[in-house]
Parts: sequence; C-alpha cells; structure tokens
Amino acid sequence: MATDKKLQDWVTKTAELCQPDKVCWCDGSQEEYDRLMGEMVKSGMAVKLNEGKRPNSYYFRSNPGDVARVEQSTFICSKRKEDAGPTNNWCEPEEMKAKLTKFYTGCMKGRTMYVIPFSMGPLGSKISYIGVQITDSPYVVCNMKIMTRMGKKVLDVLGDGAFVPCLHSVGAPLKPGEKDSFWPCDPSNKFIVHVPEERMIWSYGSGYGGNALLGKKCFALRIASAMARDEGWLAEHMLIMGVTNPKGEKKYFAAAFPSACGKTNLAMLIPTIPGWKVECVGDDIAWMKFGPDGRLYAINPEYGFFGVAPGTSMESNKNAMLSATKNAIFTNTGLSPDGDVWWEGMGGETPQKLTSWLGEEWTPGCGKVASHANARFTAPAGQCPAIDKAWEDPKGVPISAFFFGGRRGSVVPLVIESFDWQHGTFLGSTASSEMTAAAAGKVGELRRDPMAMLPFCGYHMGDYFSHWLKLGKKADPKKLPRIFYVNWFRKSKEGRFLWPGYGENSRILKWAFERLEGTASAVETPIGRLPAADAIDVAGLGVSKESMEELLRVDTEAWKAEVESIRGHFAKFGDRLPQGLNEELNSLKERLSKAPVRA
Ligand code: GTP
Ligand code: SPV
Ligand code: MN
Repeated sequence: MATDKKLQDWVTKTAELCQPDKVCWCDGSQEEYDRLMGEMVKSGMAVKLNEGKRPNSYYFRSNPGDVARVEQSTFICSKRKEDAGPTNNWCEPEEMKAKLTKFYTGCMKGRTMYVIPFSMGPLGSKISYIGVQITDSPYVVCNMKIMTRMGKKVLDVLGDGAFVPCLHSVGAPLKPGEKDSFWPCDPSNKFIVHVPEERMIWSYGSGYGGNALLGKKCFALRIASAMARDEGWLAEHMLIMGVTNPKGEKKYFAAAFPSACGKTNLAMLIPTIPGWKVECVGDDIAWMKFGPDGRLYAINPEYGFFGVAPGTSMESNKNAMLSATKNAIFTNTGLSPDGDVWWEGMGGETPQKLTSWLGEEWTPGCGKVASHANARFTAPAGQCPAIDKAWEDPKGVPISAFFFGGRRGSVVPLVIESFDWQHGTFLGSTASSEMTAAAAGKVGELRRDPMAMLPFCGYHMGDYFSHWLKLGKKADPKKLPRIFYVNWFRKSKEGRFLWPGYGENSRILKWAFERLEGTASAVETPIGRLPAADAIDVAGLGVSKESMEELLRVDTEAWKAEVESIRGHFAKFGDRLPQGLNEELNSLKERLSKAPVRA
C-alpha cells in the first residue's frame, strides 16, 4: 500500500469507477510473478513452456482482433487541437474523459485491479521518471515486471505524487460465474488516450504491446516527448549502443528506425569486421539530457526487450535469441508439440507439426503462417549477452552520433552523413519507410515517419522539429552528436536486397566511427556526405562492386522528385514548420539543380 496521498486517492477513485472484485498492490517479487503466471496457466490464458527447453517461460495467444498497436484509436488530447498537430488524432480532453468514463464504469467487474508502481529508467537517476499503471490484466503485470523496474522499491522512492497515472483496462467485465476468455479485450472499442498537459494516460480495450504496457510508447514516448519539450531534453524512439574499435576506443550511438525496421537487430549486432565490438544499452527508447560537460547523455528507460519474433534467428540476431532462452514471455508465435515456441525465420529444422498463433493445427506448406508477423518476445535486458556494462548507469552514456533510417527499396543510399545539426534534423524529419506489421494498417505502403516518431510524438510534430533545432542552437556544436541517415533496404531491379544487413551493418558503423575520428573519407553530394569510393571496409563482404555503386548512388532525378514529396510532407505542418527545415529543403533543391557529384 502506498503512503502517497495522491496515489492512494487515485487508486480509491479508480476502484470505485471500475468496480473490480479485488485490488492488488504489486510488489514486483518473483513470487508474485509465479503466482500470476500459475493462475493464468490454470485459467487457460497461458501455456507454461517446456522447463527443460525454456526455463520459467510462458506462451500466450492473443485475440486475432488485438495483435498490434492501433494508431487510428490513439489520441493526443491536448487542450487545443492545434497542439496535437496534423499527425495525431485529437479529441477535447473533457469530452474524451466523459466518453471513456462510460466505458470504464464497471469494466473490471469479476476481475482483480492491479496497481503497478514502475520506474522508467534506473531508480534514482536524474533522467528517470515514475509511473503507476492500474490494470485488470495479469498478463500486463507480468510483462511490466520484465519491461520496467517495478513494485515496492518504486513506492519507496516515490515523492509527493510525482508519478504519471496510467489507467488500463482490457474492457471485458465478467458476469458472476462467466468463464473468462483466453485473451479478454474489446476489439471494437479500443482507445489509447494521452492527456499531455495533465501527464496522464487512459487505455481501454486492448491487451497487446504498446497499447497495454503503458510505460513504453504511451509514457516513455508520447507523454515523455511533451515533458522533454517543456524541460529541454529528448525522448526518442531510439536504440542505444556502444561501439568499440580494435584499439579499444568506445563511442555510444543512438538510432531511430520505424517499428520493425531493425533497431533490436542493430542494438545487439555481432560485427563481421575483426576487432570491433557492439554492446547494447537499449533497443527501442532513449531518454537524453545534457550533462554538466555539455554532452548529451542517454538512458534506456526500459528494463527488457519487447522484440519482433519472426525473422529472429541465431544467424540474424543471436543475442536476441540468447536473451529469450529463459524467464521470457512469447505472444502470438507458434507452439510446438514439445512445449517450445517456433516462428517463421527462426532457423534450424522446421517442425513437422505445430499449433499456430490462431490455435489451429499447422504443418509446413499448409499455406498459413504459424506466427503472426507482429508476434513478440518479452525478455529481461540483463539477459542479453551483449548488454553494455553501463546500461544501468544513472548518469546515462554520452552519445556521439545519431542514425535515422527506414525501409526504402530505392532512392535512399546506404548511408548519408549530414552537413551539420540542422541538416541532420532535416534528414530525420524526412525519414520515410514502407509500413510494417507493428501497427494495424497497410503493410508495405510508403509513409513519412519523421525521426521514427510519427505514431509516438505527444504534440505538434512541427513544434517537435523546432525543439530539435532549438536544442542544437543551444548546445556547443562540437559536443552535439553527429547525425547520419542509413537505409539497409535498397533493392536491385529484381527486387533483391542489395545490402546483406545485420552483422554487416558494422561496416557502416565503422565508417561513421571513423568519420567522427576524422580518419574516414567522404564525398560531398547534393544530399549530404557519402562514403568515398573505397571508404567502406568491404574485406570479406560478398557484395559486388556494381551493387556497392548502386547502394551509394545518388539518383539526381529521383531526388528531385523526392524534394517535391518532402515539400508535400512539410506542407502539412503549416506555419509550425520551422524555417530551418524549409531552408534545408530549398538548399537541397538548389544543390540538385547544379551538376551532381555522382550521376
Ligand atoms: P520495434 O520493436 O517495432 O520498434 O522494431 P525494431 O526496429 O526493434 O525492429 P526489429 O529490429 O525487430 O526489426 C525486425 C525486422 O527488420 C525484421 O523483419 C528483420 O528481418 C528486419 N531487419 C533488421 N535488420 C535488418 C537488416 O540489416 N537488413 C534487412 N534486410 N532487414 C533487417
Ligand atoms: C513498436 O511498434 O515500435 C514497438 C512495439 O516497439 S509496441 O510496444 O507494441 O509499440
Ligand atoms: Mn518500437
């Protein structure tokens, strides 16, 4: 029980509204986790995996109507519509509260209401913040134990109501005696609501991922980005990695790619180039504040990974595979007869029979997938073999470079170095990607996803760009991270990836590292600095010279079309688009109109 009055009052009021059978204050202990998992196994919601193969791990299947984030049902309820901006759904806060209050009334009948105090970031760090999630989902409680630092220890440091209240319900009250569903939710009434000015979150109807684990996207990105704007720091959809060269010199990088575009892979990659080392601080979110030395320091506010399962294998991401060998949760993968999980692209032998994520019998060649494309594993970050020594350092780690990127089959080269902070911010603001299964919607369709924050920025995106530019103006340019833009996804005319990616991406990290050191060469092109012809280390890389040329080709005509597309993208932000970005667009157009350096 909390001694904090604001917390106590909020819990009492919420219990009166939601009318659960019981209220349980989560202490975050292993006993509590085991008890909840035991109850879920008994009720048929969870399957305990084979203890010999995957110790202390559990398997869940979601309702097929609840498999990913729902951007159409996500709202930023600022007081004024114009503060939510053109990229967010908006509703007047009191109107939304009144509407949701109806849904919340009695919504936890027949269930337990759990109170989860959690810290985003190491307890006691000046960069960390505390939240309290109320939920009626024991699945969420168990995931939150892996994904955040949670329980009694957080209450102990909670000062005077300094927490973000996060209310969550799956929206499936039980009548007396009614048997619970294996995945309770309300597929046709989902609401993921943020009130940035009040720093509060209301989520209803979904039990999946970022819709339900409210510390992640809702708090650590949407609410935190609004806090960061007000307080002069950055809350970003970025991995954080340590990169060490053969001389033992180390730099930290942070990278923003849209959902399911390779952050987890890059964060823990195993370099293919001898002598280089990559260590992981975080794979999804970075909170960054300026330190006393004027450099930008990052923490990973999370405590675990919620990673995409399909495509993850010992070849593509060994460290992710090893992170999830025990104490893990799997959702919407396939289940093998021997009580282990399986997914497409896992490597090894394909099982002859499985139960699919839909609970149906699955055999190879049956024409269906065994795992949903957004099937995920939840695993403690501390279990990653490549976890960085400083990953829990309350000071954070100093960031030397940012990488933006996305999935682009054409036009965008393998890597671009920006000319300066404003140009780098411009590159980030134009980030575009073919959509993935991480959100409900049209997979494959190209969209602009600035800084990979399109679904996660808690205020007007034009103001967000201004915030980036303002931070750059305030800081010492020599101490600011250098900004790069990468694209692992350029394809040949035949539709084949030109770049092998994964561990080979270390070659691009090396080039960037050496650019920071001043030892790697670059050529100026209209779109930015690109590696000089021989600047990328290709020793042992099975990529032809022609493919390398194509990967680094700046197609002037295609870029002229890109300029017009960016102009259309920028037009959405009206007079909130900072002048600096318009300047960059105009200079790009100007540079393209002159003779291109590379044809
Ligand atoms: P969220 O957790 O949704 O924010 O995404 P993430 O960015 O962490 O995604 P993740 O690393 O799990 O990306 C998974 C997808 O990207 C899979 O389809 C991978 O196969 C693909 N992928 C990752 N790295 C590479 C790469 O270097 N090249 C290619 N071609 N595909 C990659
Ligand atoms: C993403 O979609 O960017 C994720 C997964 O990291 S979720 O937590 O569901 O948002
Ligand atoms: Mn993400």
